[in-house]
Amino acid sequence: MNLDKYIALIKKGEVVAFPTETVYGLGADAWNPSAIQKVFKIKGRPSDNPLIVHVSNLEQVLDFVISIPKEAQELIDAFWPGSLSIILPKKPEVLDSVTAGLNTVAIRMPDHPIALNFISKTGPLVAPSANTSGNPSPTKANHVLQDFGSDFPVIDGESTHVGLESTVIDLSEGEPTILRPGSISRKQIEDVLGNGIHESFFTKLVQPKSPGQKYSHYKPNAEVKWLDENDNLSDKAILFLLTESDHTAPNQVNYDGDLALLARELYDRFRQADLEGYSKIAIQTFNDSDHSIVPALLNRINRAIS
Ligand code: TXA
Ligand code: MG
Repeated sequence: MNLDKYIALIKKGEVVAFPTETVYGLGADAWNPSAIQKVFKIKGRPSDNPLIVHVSNLEQVLDFVISIPKEAQELIDAFWPGSLSIILPKKPEVLDSVTAGLNTVAIRMPDHPIALNFISKTGPLVAPSANTSGNPSPTKANHVLQDFGSDFPVIDGESTHVGLESTVIDLSEGEPTILRPGSISRKQIEDVLGNGIHESFFTKLVQPKSPGQKYSHYKPNAEVKWLDENDNLSDKAILFLLTESDHTAPNQVNYDGDLALLARELYDRFRQADLEGYSKIAIQTFNDSDHSIVPALLNRINRAIS
């Protein structure tokens, strides 16, 4: 795939959407203040919500963080490239607009050949999910165009593989704490760092450590709910089933217990429900505590319900 025109746009201080393995990112040069302003403006993102820096090699990390502590190095060795964003104390020269004035910065190396190739040519990019603030993260190039218009520069990498945003872990002080669950689970992290990793995403913090947690998440116009036996599913319901069932609805997507596929398609289904005017999205509860995607799926579904 020829990326030259997209690389030129980034070098000119423009923004370009590109695929990662989690969701599409809205990329801008991490050292260009006016490019970063464009990211906030295009998304309608509050300026106190910091961005994740995306790198394509390990040398780039040391331009942003003061040092790479042992625990961070162990996670990098185990999971990068991959869907784990690591928060560390930042170097003073990192732009305040990237970190929203915090003294820490979030970094990840995405596991996607197009993203890695692109960043290796542009240098490190900030990349929030490439959606209008309040919409579901994009998992297809077409979702980006739905939000930003049909002329918007987006590198088409087809559907993203994971479908939910990266795990965010704070290693900047005190105990390692997962601030956002993603496809890399606490258990996988504990296999590397040892047991006792904290999590702060289920509790409602008065002052959330991850500013993103305090903003309301995507709620489709349709009511999202867990399916229960008394559900009277009218013709305007969309139903996700995780196992075989007797339920019949005009639009029923049976994932047959495939939680990874549900994660991959969840945001697309949310968008579909709204585009097609469904009034209800009923999801059959699932119970598969061993699957690493479960905490992230429950987190995104419950945030859409709440
Ligand atoms: O999978 C992903 O992470 C995608 C793809 C494009 O890489 N990106 C993404 O970015 O989800 P965004 O901006 O939509 O979410 C970043 C989250 C926000 O909740 C933000 O508050 C948090 O990470 N965050 C970023 N920097 C932080 C920091 N220094 N301290 C605490 N939270 C931080
Ligand atoms: Mg986002």
